[in-house]
Amino acid sequence: MSNFTLRGGARLIGSIAAQGSKNAALPILAATLLVKEPVRLKNCPRLRDVGNMLHILESLGCTVFREGDDLIVDSGTATNCVLPTALSRELRSSIFLLGSVLSRFAEADAPYPGGCEIGNRPIDLHLQGLRRLNAEIAERGGRIHCRGANLIGAIVDFEYPSVGATENIMLAACRAKGETVIRNAACEPEIVDLQGFLNACGFRVSGAGTPTIAIEGVEEGHGATYRIMPDRIVTGTYLIGAAITRGDVTVTGTYPDTVDALLAKLSACGCDVTRDKQAVRVAAKDRPRRIDFTETRPYPGFPTDLQPQLFSLLSVADGTSILKENVFENRFKHAQELKKMGAENRILDRAAIITGVERLHGANVIAHDLRGGAALVLAGLSAEGDTVIEHIERIERGYEQMDLAIKALGGTVARKDERIGKEEQTLRAGAERLPVR
Ligand code: EPZ
Repeated sequence: MSNFTLRGGARLIGSIAAQGSKNAALPILAATLLVKEPVRLKNCPRLRDVGNMLHILESLGCTVFREGDDLIVDSGTATNCVLPTALSRELRSSIFLLGSVLSRFAEADAPYPGGCEIGNRPIDLHLQGLRRLNAEIAERGGRIHCRGANLIGAIVDFEYPSVGATENIMLAACRAKGETVIRNAACEPEIVDLQGFLNACGFRVSGAGTPTIAIEGVEEGHGATYRIMPDRIVTGTYLIGAAITRGDVTVTGTYPDTVDALLAKLSACGCDVTRDKQAVRVAAKDRPRRIDFTETRPYPGFPTDLQPQLFSLLSVADGTSILKENVFENRFKHAQELKKMGAENRILDRAAIITGVERLHGANVIAHDLRGGAALVLAGLSAEGDTVIEHIERIERGYEQMDLAIKALGGTVARKDERIGKEEQTLRAGAERLPVR
């Protein structure tokens, strides 16, 4: 277990480039199984979750290596359709590999992903969609066995716009016979990026970013070079960092439109928000104003992945704010940790009532999950005194070298690794144990 020690009080000031998007990279890496030629991915972030996905692809027989900053994946060498249990459990979003493994090998075998720190994470919509495409699915012994030698395009109606289920069906439909139409599809920008990658590989996908996505099945795709979009959640996290430390941060190489919902909230808090084509700047001189009511919604609503970070900001606002979490049923674990730092909040089912305090104080806290951990980093940067955050390996699932980024913006942070084996140390640090050619 590794930890951060943060010294609060410094204003975050400066410019930082957005990293590649974790939630675009993961489905795109799953999609590489659909083609038997090498693909070159640019701007693929070096993260623990990406490292785990690459190890899963290698276990299926794919060849994976870095060439400078580019990531090369050659799935022409893939031969295995059984997903490894430990790695697939560690990376529960690997469930959308079902669609691409099934399409490639006519069968797929995966462990039931199970729940995680933020909720039960059911996969009923994934399995319902695959069955609509004529896949046979059996669930036994904690594993899912899929057969699909003859996937046929169909209309797939989702009762909820699930991001992962939308991605899974897009992947399974690319080489199915005939057309698939997904209705009530998720509209997240990462799905638009997946469509961009699939079309670069010669598949025929349209409508991503809207609730209706059409996929025209084709025999085979081909290799491609593709640049992964910038990470909108990491962008938003550092912009909230400016607001909570009364700093002035510009995030470059990002897509401002993808953080519109957050920018509206930061303006409402009294921040000065400016944007141009690929950069956003947030400056704050005063204590943030309270925000009556915010609720998380599927895109373009306020993103659940920025709820914990906004929670930290509202914890030092000049009044009481209400924050409702509609997407996941257990995504307020950071609330109790913030209380250790002097925050005042009450959780009533899916709603948090947050009474802002003038200033938080340092404490020893635990990162229970990825975005909750990022929220504690922001709180620690604004607090009086030192804050120690345990289990930062959970934060490093989604943030590339967060300690270096904070230092580059003028914050004070030290990272400490407890004595763990080299293997685990490498994995946790987000480095990928990949050959470089
Ligand atoms: C993706 O998770 C993201 N992960 C999550 O980011 C993000 O919070 C989430 O979408 C919502 O935007 C990746 O892209 C790797 P969902 P996913 O399926 O696909 C219910 C982060 O911090 N549901 O849209 O799992 C589910 O229980 C992570 O980067 C079903 O009921 O999200 C949840 O309540 C956290 N049945 C809701 O839908 C299903 O079959 C949203 O889940 C699938 C989902």
